[in-house]
Amino acid sequence: MAETRKFPHHLIREIFEQPDALRRAIEPRISLAEGRVQLDEIHISREELRALRRINIVASGTSRHAGMTGQYMMQELAGVPVDVDYASEFEYRNPVIGRGELSIFITQSGETADTTASQREARQKGSRTIAISNVEGSTIAREADGFIYTHAGPEISIASTKAFTAQMACLFLFALYLGEIKEKVSKALAQSYIGELLALPKKTETILAASDQVEKLAELYYRVDDFMFLGRAIHYPIAMDGALKLKEVSYIHAEGYPTGEAKHGPNALIDFRLPLVMIATCDRNDAGSVVRYDQNVSNMEGFKKQGATLIALATEGDTIVPQLANHTIFIPAAPELLSPILEIVPLQLFAYYVAAKRGLDVDHPRNLVKAVTLE
Ligand code: F6R
Repeated sequence: MAETRKFPHHLIREIFEQPDALRRAIEPRISLAEGRVQLDEIHISREELRALRRINIVASGTSRHAGMTGQYMMQELAGVPVDVDYASEFEYRNPVIGRGELSIFITQSGETADTTASQREARQKGSRTIAISNVEGSTIAREADGFIYTHAGPEISIASTKAFTAQMACLFLFALYLGEIKEKVSKALAQSYIGELLALPKKTETILAASDQVEKLAELYYRVDDFMFLGRAIHYPIAMDGALKLKEVSYIHAEGYPTGEAKHGPNALIDFRLPLVMIATCDRNDAGSVVRYDQNVSNMEGFKKQGATLIALATEGDTIVPQLANHTIFIPAAPELLSPILEIVPLQLFAYYVAAKRGLDVDHPRNLVKAVTLE
């Protein structure tokens, strides 16, 4: 899809490269014959993984948002407690970590100074480490026990897009791998997730094929100066990343909040001048997520009463959310743990189109660099 089109900026090309990036991250790691995930590069034995007591995930910016989704994936599929840290805060909290634990460091560039320093600290304390990086032979990968390369291809635009979706896919692969080793995931569940993983690139293409709808939305909102993004549970990091993309490329003030936290303060900001981007997708085959869906609906009713302007992300076929929202962007249905990989795509498109309409240098936002190599 990306190869046959000409794009005015790296950012939009990289957004459109996501179906291929996902294929490269996922397909080589699936053994269809055995119906399971293969992760030979992690260089940590199955016995050691079976005995794991805790996982620490450490990263910065968008990579940390991927780590936050990984926390839900690993806790759900492997039943292991997972902590997520900002790399820039990790060493200051003198983390109590040690043997029997695994620390995962996520960095697109593999050179973010806070992340490489955090890995050295974790290793010094006796933790095993895995690096998830987009750059082969990067510092983070060279110094780790094992690695998972995202294989998203070179990411040139400052804002991270295709590396992010590939990171989430790799985290899910690892969570499934660990869940099988720990015997928390049945063969049938693993096979159904493998089918869903392999379906992601096509679903991403469907979202990209409707990019003109997101562009129209950007046309309506590109002059607005403040946005709030809301999401629950595994969708919360996507709200955070949607806000981060918008602020970094378009210089619009945007905040990402857990939906349920709005009542604890941010609600005071809500009126028609502050558009709310609400992630309200649902997987109707998953009893847990339907409960959150109902909560989302009741939150949306509340926001509407307050006069909010609502832009919703909903699952294709949903008829309730679109009635409450001023605008709805539809996402193909996917299991809740995989849905974030799809949800972020329209939010990336939105940030891009808004910034482009504002006439900004979308590939090189002011004051930012691609790899922050100083602590
Ligand atoms: C946001 C963005 C940054 C990076 C962060 C970490 O779009 O690109 O927030 O995610 O600087 O960079 P890496 O992943 O290279 O460690």
